Amino acid sequence: MKKFLVLSLALLLVLSVAACGTPDQTTPTPPAADPTAPVAPVDPTAPAAPDDGPADVAANIGSCIYKFDDTFMTGVRNAMTETAAGLGAELDIQDSRNDQPTQNSQVEAFITKGVNALAINPVDRTAAGSITDLARAAGLPVVFLNREPEEPVMQGYDKIWYVGAKAEESGTMSGQILVDYWQANPSVDKNGDSKLQYVLLKGEQGHQDAELRTEFSQKALVDAGLAIDSDQNLDECLLAIDSATWDKPKATDLMNTWISSIGLDKIEAVFANNDDMALGALEALKANGYNTGDASKYIPVVGVDATAPALESMSKGELLGTVLNDAVNQGAATVAIANAAAKGLEINQANIGYEVTDGKYIWIPYVKVTVDNYTQFQ
Ligand code: GAL
Ligand code: CA
Repeated sequence: MKKFLVLSLALLLVLSVAACGTPDQTTPTPPAADPTAPVAPVDPTAPAAPDDGPADVAANIGSCIYKFDDTFMTGVRNAMTETAAGLGAELDIQDSRNDQPTQNSQVEAFITKGVNALAINPVDRTAAGSITDLARAAGLPVVFLNREPEEPVMQGYDKIWYVGAKAEESGTMSGQILVDYWQANPSVDKNGDSKLQYVLLKGEQGHQDAELRTEFSQKALVDAGLAIDSDQNLDECLLAIDSATWDKPKATDLMNTWISSIGLDKIEAVFANNDDMALGALEALKANGYNTGDASKYIPVVGVDATAPALESMSKGELLGTVLNDAVNQGAATVAIANAAAKGLEINQANIGYEVTDGKYIWIPYVKVTVDNYTQFQ
């Protein structure tokens, strides 16, 4: 909550007059004051400028989230609501219930209702093109978040933006957490072959975060000499891989299957593309007496997101590490863009408080989280 307030305040300051700093290390530095930058009135009761420009329009944002029942996206959603309140923007967020046709109807309804900006977390990221067609036909700005539209869609419209994080960065960081642990704890190598035998819980197939986190977490192991660079190494290092679609109970089921088929004595580590799946795997391990305090029964598990339950698990010594997927700044940046675009303002750092890459992309950095620094994120 403190972060939300700090952030809303930061955005207000950026949009009204000047620069400001925040004590939160994970928050990108707001832009320096630029006296020539356009100033967006954020107080709807302020007297109108003599020449009523588009900047006086109140933002009315229609948003869809792929499904509400998702731990990380709930954090993003809360940040969006908090930021909209701080900016005095109307924000209606709908639950697309993991169904693309439902989401398409919600977008159509928003347009009929007369929103002046859209903020969409697609169910299926390949559907971003048809949503963009609807936005274009209505002349509406559209901000996509968390599920990245394909490049031609991004290039095919001048009022489209994407807010996300570089998935390869999180993959590399989760691999590095394991490499660091390996170096400090040689006993991880249970079979003494100088390689890491691991299982991997993948997110939703085709999601950029699932594909790239999988690829780059393994690449970090290969780069450190702990795994073999081959798709054929299934028996050697990658003992098993399957998708649990970001879901905790599905991850518990998969982990139980692997515990039976592979054996706890052979699994040296667990990678999960997100924290819910890491915590799901931990449920299975704990049920077998692992990761509950007995040092001889510990398998390092690494996730991504740094959700509250993951940080709590880390505080108990269960989860080895995670990577902050910054829900607060992703939600805040999304609403800042939609708000500014609804007012007809240019989308640049001065107007939204975040760096804009290639005029269209806002990349929020990931941060490695281990027992050494997790309290900063709680
Ligand atoms: C990822 C996140 C997952 C899940 C997914 C939804 O970035 O790590 O936990 O929320 O987005 O698209
Ligand atoms: Ca080994």
